[in-house]
Amino acid sequence: MTDSLLRAQDYSEPFGSLSLAGKVLLVVGGARNTGERIARLGAARGAKIVIGDILDNEGEAVAQTIRDAGGEAYFKHCDVKNEPECAALVAFVVEKFGELNLAANNQGYFQFLTKTENYPSDEFDLHMKTNAYGTFYLLKYETAQMVKQGKGGAITNTSSEVGLLGQPDMTGYSTSKHAVLGMTKTAADEYGPQNIRVNAICPGPIASLKMDENWHKMGDGYLKAMHDRVPLNRVSDPIEQAEVVLFTLSDAASYISGAIWATDGGKNTAH
Ligand SMILES: NC(=O)c1ccc[n+]([C@@H]2O[C@H](COP(=O)([O-])OP(=O)(O)OC[C@H]3O[C@@H](n4cnc5c(N)ncnc54)[C@H](O)[C@@H]3O)[C@@H](O)[C@H]2O)c1
Repeated sequence: MTDSLLRAQDYSEPFGSLSLAGKVLLVVGGARNTGERIARLGAARGAKIVIGDILDNEGEAVAQTIRDAGGEAYFKHCDVKNEPECAALVAFVVEKFGELNLAANNQGYFQFLTKTENYPSDEFDLHMKTNAYGTFYLLKYETAQMVKQGKGGAITNTSSEVGLLGQPDMTGYSTSKHAVLGMTKTAADEYGPQNIRVNAICPGPIASLKMDENWHKMGDGYLKAMHDRVPLNRVSDPIEQAEVVLFTLSDAASYISGAIWATDGGKNTAH
């Protein structure tokens, strides 16, 4: 029995380490761009990695890159629209590494389409299935596994700037990313007593090969329009999103749960 609420701390080692040494990290949507950075930087910080994605060749290549650098990593095909595949992905993590400590639910489907009155219902469904249902299925099996282990854990979901704000022509994406925030806050409340932290990031525009392609096709006007939307006046590099995900998953964020991180260059403050 201690007579202080304060932790004994000798400061010889920094408390709240960003290190993920010994942790098992599942990265869903880890085959490219932000997810690839989460997986590779997570491995560099000491985590054992499982990547789930629908892009088999790219996902396997990321796992191989991590293994080549001396880390431990596996890839497993998982279409998050399918609940049994999400259950099987979590089971695969446990089969390979014995437990699941951390999860980044980063997968996303995005189409910029048209106003609500003309918005195709099957596209609305696809956004909801990948972004909302997919994250729900993953959360369901990840939290169940972490509760069973009884050692706590951390999960970070990826929403979007349009999970916080509306945006014309994007009702499917925006609705599905708003849903991610609801389930994040709910799970944080439900599993706080088990020391399972659940957070979300809301990225603004992230550089990608597709964005490069559009820039080369449409010229500098395209890029200027992208930059002008953001108070920091540029799009983010995927590593800038990955850094926040890995911070929220680390012990440095041990008192952060149910938090919504606007990783959008200040967009949430704008009109
Ligand atoms: N790119 C942006 O400008 C932007 C902005 C805001 C939010 N986001 C979100 O950030 C996250 C990462 O975006 P990004 O642009 O780095 O990545 P991306 O869109 O290039 O890749 C997302 C990954 O999810 C995977 N994925 C898609 N559908 C899947 C499914 N059904 N099952 C399993 N995996 C699936 C893809 O194969 C891919 O590897 C996504 O959730 C995205 O919605 C992106």
